Amino acid sequence: MSSATRLRPEELRSYRWYGPDTIRASAHRQRTLQMGFRRKDFTGKPIIGLINTWNELSTCHYHLKERANEARRGVWAAGGLPLEFFALGLGEVMVKPTTMFHRNLLAMEVEEIIRSHPLDGVILLGGCDKTVPGLIMGAISAGVPFLFLPAGPMLNGHWRKHTIGAGTHTKKFWEELRSGTITHQDWEEIEEAICRSNGTCNTMGTASTMTALVEAMGLTLPNTICIPAVDSAHPRMATDCGERIVEMVWENLVPEKILTREAFMNGVATLMAVGGSTNAPIHMVAMANRAGISLTLEDFDAVSRKLRVIADMLPAGRFLMEDLFYAGGLSAILNRIKEHLALDCLTVNGKTLGDNITDAPCYNDEIVRTLDAPLTDVESIAVLRGNLAPDGAIIKPSASTRELLVHTGKAVVFNGVADLYARVDDPDLDVDENSVLVMKQGGPVGGPGMPEWGGMTIPKKLLAKGVRDMVRISDARMSGTHYGTVVLHVAPESAVGGPLALVEDGDMIELNVPERKLNLLVDEAELARRRAAWKAPAPHYSRGYGAMYCAHVTQAPEGCDFDFLQGSEKLPEPDIY
Ligand code: FES
Repeated sequence: MSSATRLRPEELRSYRWYGPDTIRASAHRQRTLQMGFRRKDFTGKPIIGLINTWNELSTCHYHLKERANEARRGVWAAGGLPLEFFALGLGEVMVKPTTMFHRNLLAMEVEEIIRSHPLDGVILLGGCDKTVPGLIMGAISAGVPFLFLPAGPMLNGHWRKHTIGAGTHTKKFWEELRSGTITHQDWEEIEEAICRSNGTCNTMGTASTMTALVEAMGLTLPNTICIPAVDSAHPRMATDCGERIVEMVWENLVPEKILTREAFMNGVATLMAVGGSTNAPIHMVAMANRAGISLTLEDFDAVSRKLRVIADMLPAGRFLMEDLFYAGGLSAILNRIKEHLALDCLTVNGKTLGDNITDAPCYNDEIVRTLDAPLTDVESIAVLRGNLAPDGAIIKPSASTRELLVHTGKAVVFNGVADLYARVDDPDLDVDENSVLVMKQGGPVGGPGMPEWGGMTIPKKLLAKGVRDMVRISDARMSGTHYGTVVLHVAPESAVGGPLALVEDGDMIELNVPERKLNLLVDEAELARRRAAWKAPAPHYSRGYGAMYCAHVTQAPEGCDFDFLQGSEKLPEPDIY
């Protein structure tokens, strides 16, 4: 950007707080001096918020307090004033009932932190699953220049001769423990070996997927999301983020210059190429909506039909994020799929995506495959419709059993997760490997918060027979680190009277992924009778955030944002008197 188009100091947003010759602006100056800053530290300088999702139960973000300090160095070096704010941490494993329940709360908090303070630009420090969309949704709505500082993945796990990945191997070995092929002592060793360092889950789960998408959308510095959290390159990257955000403010590089529909479609293509999490479409639709961009389930399905998985990453493949870092990082993948990307999209470093990835090397063709030799013969994510999911449902064919992708079976129905755990291992449960496990009450309102219950546990008596996958259907989500022939996000959900609410034990259900069908094979007269008899479940909450959540959350195909937060309308800046 030429100096002619750079902001002047009086055009900084923070000037409204600090610049005028008024008693109120004087109070702002007095209170900043009170913290020990010098007048020249904030006069005419970009004020940069470091919005940090660190806390001591946000386990994979444990290093982000240090990274904020390293980002400060860059802000100071570039002539800005760094100020840190703590926002809701949302550690995926610890927060109940589910981090998805609180994603919108984080988004509201971020938007209001920015809007209510004299911030000219922000760095968003996060990486755990819901922190990525939560931070970005809020920052898009606030509208100031921002860049995302990814927490980075944890190191590879190792147990005996196995390389093990967070989440994926937890599920795999838990089923081995339940079927008696490993001992409790083995299990304790796995617990100690699986999460070896700070950093986000090292599989291509939701955290790695979401950070990959935001890099492809131009919201991180190039080729940064695979840097392991404990690698010395990571703090150097944080310092670069600090330096760059100051320039972004002077260049007035606001989100709408980066987040075009083409940028979102670059994210969709990346989702398919990395074999990413089924959670991503929900978050991407929510972010797009905040940016005023139309993005639908059909956009995801259309790209998935054209672009196969080329990253051999768990859970669909074999490798972990540390391996991908050594193979060349995300840029190696983006370069391999560049014919599917809009290369002229602007990114936070002021260059185009094409400038950033063209000629990016790949050092391991086993991990990053080529378009003509993809990892799988099936799509990464497919969108299903039918009388069981009129508004859509999602499946991940690449992490499913191929033979089950066309399957008709008898429903075994659970009314919520408590019912599942109470009965699934009952030796008298009428279930076999051809059955279809169905769970209700897992959606945005029913969960509440659409918990990751969709990868329902296989009945113990079938595990003992060697069964490791079955067709499972619910309105819940599934961890991005998990796998199986699992239909998710059925919409409308059962708690609001969607057809899933009408399924009964013994009903036949048809799944046909190549034809994108999900049907309940029960005649319409019988469904009408059940619909007339259906009663909505009692609400989970009578007051507080939960009551607001259940009253305002949208369904999965609309992104599960609150209805009153959607849209890109610009809100007025606060009055300063
Ligand atoms: Fe934070 Fe998995 S627990 S990324």
